[in-house]
Amino acid sequence: MDPDPIEDFCIADLTRNGGTLSCNYGFPCKPLSQVTSEDFVFSGLTKPGNTTNLFGSAVTPGSVDFFPAVNTLGLSANRVDFAPGGILPPHSHPRATELITIIHGKVLIGIITSNNQVFSRVVEKGEVFIVPRGLLHFQYNVGKNKARTYTVFNSQKPGIINTPISLFASLPLIPDEVLVKSYMLDTNLVQVIRDKFAPAKQPLK
Ligand code: GLV
Ligand code: MN
Repeated sequence: MDPDPIEDFCIADLTRNGGTLSCNYGFPCKPLSQVTSEDFVFSGLTKPGNTTNLFGSAVTPGSVDFFPAVNTLGLSANRVDFAPGGILPPHSHPRATELITIIHGKVLIGIITSNNQVFSRVVEKGEVFIVPRGLLHFQYNVGKNKARTYTVFNSQKPGIINTPISLFASLPLIPDEVLVKSYMLDTNLVQVIRDKFAPAKQPLK
């Protein structure tokens, strides 16, 4: 879904202006004279993420900010590790369709369509599941052991809107009354939930 490339490749130069110089096309290219074979390799997905957190899951990102070689090429990958019972709460990627491959474990994956229909299935080792662009989806490790998945996105920077964090731990905070009225909650419950979600807040790309 990203724009088509106009060069063979364009290894992102994340050093210009401290990595802040980007446009809708991506980042400026590293000069060809400085490109090496190492630029095409990313080792960031080889190690499990730390799943000792509120959700029992860890997303290790391989988007352009972490793997500069995907700049302008319209794809990227993540690794997701799950502790037993771990969950990736309902979230969406505004800029990409996602293909999830189960490396090991049994993961209940569900998508919620724009007419509130749910399609879900326990997906097992070697199987893949497709999450259409922008749809809410969740992953829940229903196996007895750890689970690991790799996800591929058709964007160098899919973005993530992680609903519990977006709604309860945004910056600045959404007014309590909005959440109280939207979810029919007691006012103090909003604070109880906020207190729980605050430590889970993390920048996800
Ligand atoms: C999985 O859903 C991911 O966002 O990596
Ligand atoms: Mn996802």
